[in-house]
Amino acid sequence: MHRAVLRLLVAAIILYAFISTASAGTAYVAQPQQPNSTTLVQALSDSSVSQILLLTNYSVNDELDQFKDRPLQINRSVSISGAPGLPPASLPVLDLRWKRGKLALCSSCVFEFKDIVVANERQGVGPAFDVFVGKPGSVVATRNIYRLRLACTNAQYTSDVVSSTRRSAVLPGSGSSEAQQQQTVDATYQGRSYPGSLFTRNLTADIPFVVQEGRGPSGGYAVVSSTLHSPDHI
Ligand SMILES: *[C@@H]1O[C@H](CO)[C@@H](O)[C@H](O)[C@H]1NC(C)=O
Ligand SMILES: *[C@@H]1O[C@H](CO)[C@@H](O)[C@H](O)[C@H]1NC(C)=O
Ligand SMILES: *[C@@H]1O[C@H](CO)[C@@H](O)[C@H](O)[C@H]1NC(C)=O
Ligand SMILES: *[C@@H]1O[C@H](CO)[C@@H](O)[C@H](O)[C@H]1NC(C)=O
Repeated sequence: MHRAVLRLLVAAIILYAFISTASAGTAYVAQPQQPNSTTLVQALSDSSVSQILLLTNYSVNDELDQFKDRPLQINRSVSISGAPGLPPASLPVLDLRWKRGKLALCSSCVFEFKDIVVANERQGVGPAFDVFVGKPGSVVATRNIYRLRLACTNAQYTSDVVSSTRRSAVLPGSGSSEAQQQQTVDATYQGRSYPGSLFTRNLTADIPFVVQEGRGPSGGYAVVSSTLHSPDHI
């Protein structure tokens, strides 16, 4: 009897240790909410969260609008991704709704997007994510992401813009002889093929800090990007 209780207790402790290790620093974000999920803002506001797993497609809608006059300060590195091992067709889509200057990164903070599809992160071409405002040293990194474009700009045009973008002065490969690393590939997304899509394999840039009349500041961070640019087919 005692032994059984003890065994149960040991099992409970092991299970507890397992659960707390598995979830340490990880938040699940979903839309609509699930029993184990939070909103993106809740996850970003919790300073113990360093990894955000997106369980579903997610649009920030208006949840960032509360940071209109004062961006949400992020003082740690955070990574946001889909569940590991998903095939490209199942990667969740994070729609940033062209929000601008709502998330402030500290000078040693790296904000990473990986294994995910990102939509509406900015108007126009270029590697910036308008939602961020940074300090010298802040980095926005993308690894194996797809960017959905509303209007498919010509891959050659985007490629020309990338080629003429100066590499970041603060990230590896900054020498004046270093070129942006990009290629055109035949991409498949959601079962459709997109020949001649642009893959920026290793693109870096310093995004200047700018204040846009009526829309507030954004920029002021460096970007390192490994991204496949896909046209939106909707
Ligand atoms: C979160 O809950 C959903 C169901 O509500 C489940 O499908 C999913 O596997 C859970 N995810 C994790 C990581 O616990
Ligand atoms: C997620 O968004 C993509 C692109 O809009 C869409 O094709 C896909 O069906 C969506 N997935 C779900 C589960 O709604
Ligand atoms: C982030 O760091 C700054 C500077 O150290 C500090 O003033 C601020 O209170 C911190 N904010 C949060 C949300 O931790
Ligand atoms: C990008 O290229 C630079 C210069 O070749 C290299 O030092 C760096 O490690 C590369 N970064 C990634 C993420 O591959």
